[in-house]
Amino acid sequence: MIKRALLTAALSLATVLSFGQPKLRPDNIEDIIKAMTDEELASLLVGAKESEFYYFEGTAAGVRSIPRLGIPATISCDGPAGLHFYPFRDNTDKTFYCTAFPVGVLSASSWDLELMETMTGALGNEVHEYGVDMFLGPGMNIHRSPLCGRNFEYFSEDPLLSGKMAAAYVRGIQSNGVTATVKHFAANNQETNRHENDARIGQRALREIYLKNFEIAVKEGRPGAMMASYNKLNGEYAQQSYDLLTTILREEWGYDGVVLTDHGAKDGTVKAAKAGCDLMQPGSEVELERMLEAVKEGAITRDELERNARHVLRYIVSTPRFKGYKFSNDPDLRTHAELARKVAGESIVMLKNDGGTLPLKAGAKLAVYGVGSEDFVAVGIGSGHVVAKHVGNMRESLTDAGFELNQDLAGYYKAYVELDHATKRVAGAMDWLVYESWGYGKKVAEADVPLNMLSRQAAEEDVAIIVISRDAGEGYDRSLVDDFELSVRERELIRLVSDEYHAKGKKVVVILNIGGVIETVSWNNMADAILLPWQPGQEGAYAVADVLAGKVNPSGKLTMTFPIDVLDHPSSANFPTCPQVGEAEQGLRKNVDYTEYAEGIWVGYRHFTTRGIKVSYPFGYGLSYTTFLYSKPIVKASSDGFTASVTVTNTGPVAGKEVIEVYVSAPYGGLEKPSRELKAFGKTRSLAPGESQTLSFTVPAYELASFNEAVSAWETAAGNYQVQFGSSVEDIRAAGSFRIKKPQSWKVNNL
Ligand code: BGC
Repeated sequence: MIKRALLTAALSLATVLSFGQPKLRPDNIEDIIKAMTDEELASLLVGAKESEFYYFEGTAAGVRSIPRLGIPATISCDGPAGLHFYPFRDNTDKTFYCTAFPVGVLSASSWDLELMETMTGALGNEVHEYGVDMFLGPGMNIHRSPLCGRNFEYFSEDPLLSGKMAAAYVRGIQSNGVTATVKHFAANNQETNRHENDARIGQRALREIYLKNFEIAVKEGRPGAMMASYNKLNGEYAQQSYDLLTTILREEWGYDGVVLTDHGAKDGTVKAAKAGCDLMQPGSEVELERMLEAVKEGAITRDELERNARHVLRYIVSTPRFKGYKFSNDPDLRTHAELARKVAGESIVMLKNDGGTLPLKAGAKLAVYGVGSEDFVAVGIGSGHVVAKHVGNMRESLTDAGFELNQDLAGYYKAYVELDHATKRVAGAMDWLVYESWGYGKKVAEADVPLNMLSRQAAEEDVAIIVISRDAGEGYDRSLVDDFELSVRERELIRLVSDEYHAKGKKVVVILNIGGVIETVSWNNMADAILLPWQPGQEGAYAVADVLAGKVNPSGKLTMTFPIDVLDHPSSANFPTCPQVGEAEQGLRKNVDYTEYAEGIWVGYRHFTTRGIKVSYPFGYGLSYTTFLYSKPIVKASSDGFTASVTVTNTGPVAGKEVIEVYVSAPYGGLEKPSRELKAFGKTRSLAPGESQTLSFTVPAYELASFNEAVSAWETAAGNYQVQFGSSVEDIRAAGSFRIKKPQSWKVNNL
């Protein structure tokens, strides 16, 4: 109490002394820093108080103002699939809805960097027009296990794809003059005990898998902000790790933006600040007191405070708020909705299409099963949730696309979902929205299979569509039962519907409206076609209808593996929701208090492909309504790595786009390497039947390197490298090779 009074007095004295003080400008940051009292420095580094930043419900945090030096309060807001705040505000009838774009795992399935940048260009415009300075996205942790609850927000199991997508994402957001925040740095690969879990990772896996994507994002995207994760990394909180936040991030990678904490206070405020974590978010009075105490005791130096303040002030002068931008509160939601639909359509992955089941005939008579047809999931839950004005569902989108829907069935699911919502919607609209955003397990459980209608529908309708939906979100990992595996009702639904329809010579299409990988081998033979739109945003159901109708030819590819069994992933031996949980060791709970990343670099396809383990759908997989032929490629060693080009021709009946995945197999000897690793990728434009396009790739030697932890260096071995051009990691269509004459190495610090 006394401390707080002294602090208030000190800050007011500073205000009195403000006469004649310089005001912050982009070119006088050093003068401002010199003019700041220790109290002001500390207050700048500890984030905004709630009263200052909660000017509308849902925003995350911000920076405190220091009026005497012309430093405004700035605000930040979640992401990443769109802005996360609530649409209603006091004293106005105006609503403030945001566009729910496709979640990260879907937009990355486009394998289209330009498209990603265009999408986040529009998202960034909403950030700008709603008066937000810092957007808390992209989320980009690696899909180490299919069961991580936040995989839907993240991009891939592969660091190159993840890093390139994040960089494109950041460029799009920041093209609006607002700041993107790359999160969660680093190794936040599980939600269970996410605040305290210690991710124990060997140096090689850390460098090649868990930091590599961030390295690419930093170097190619130049994000204005990085959010340090809650978890520990090899015994030290990421937020308090000097090695991570200063040595690697700034000194090795040349990062010059601001670093902030993930949200909520830890005891080690001062340690975090010393490590190079510039900004505590949201920041509390206790943290402020800790900082001031540390200044007084000399536990943190003025130099350290100034260093951090420099980063924060550079951020502040870049913000729209500092520049006095008069935001409209009126972004063009209609245009953004169209873009959201386009991105979803370009990214949907077609997993199966036997006998040309899809596209469906125009005006086909459809029976649409599953609660997901009505209660379609646009985005996940938690801070990644977005409140859109309207989320289209499959009933609406298929009707809109001119299909004839069985009305009895549509009515059955509509009534079921409405009843479920009515029981949950106990209080006012705002409570419902909060509940929806944070309501774990809100997803309506599958309804009983409408047995009484089934046989007649199978006789009368042309095709059965089954929608399987899933929620997932922040704070918990997914379970095996009823989540990775289908629930008993879902299983029954697929079996009974396919029996009835197949008996009558009709086709069955399954739509996977999910946020994370699920088990597919036990039922995929019962479906004739399977589409994977993930959680495709508010317009996603319309995008699915576009693909079903053949208006859009699917060109998305998997950014992770669909295993046969989740236990086939070596990470499952050390993941909370797998059966091995719970061994006591020195009072610590395995996979809760700490997690051994014992699988090292053998994450995703690196494991499955190298060890020849069968999967349900491999990394990079996705079908099209057309076919493509790859030419003999040209592969050449360059002064720094290699260059390659390949020509792709559309050999099928309709226009389409193809993703070309460039994998490299390193020469034998030295470090053990995956049999192939993704080193580049590209996507053709829409090619008409018979049309060709040549794609070229340039890969520097540094990107071919593996990390040798014995000497703490990246090493690219000399020898012959195979370059493979694949339509998936298991479907190599063309190959070439080049030679690196001399080994190369890049020494770095150990973490
Ligand atoms: C999440 C972050 C989010 C922050 C602010 C945290 O709990 O992990 O992703 O940006 O909250 O809402």
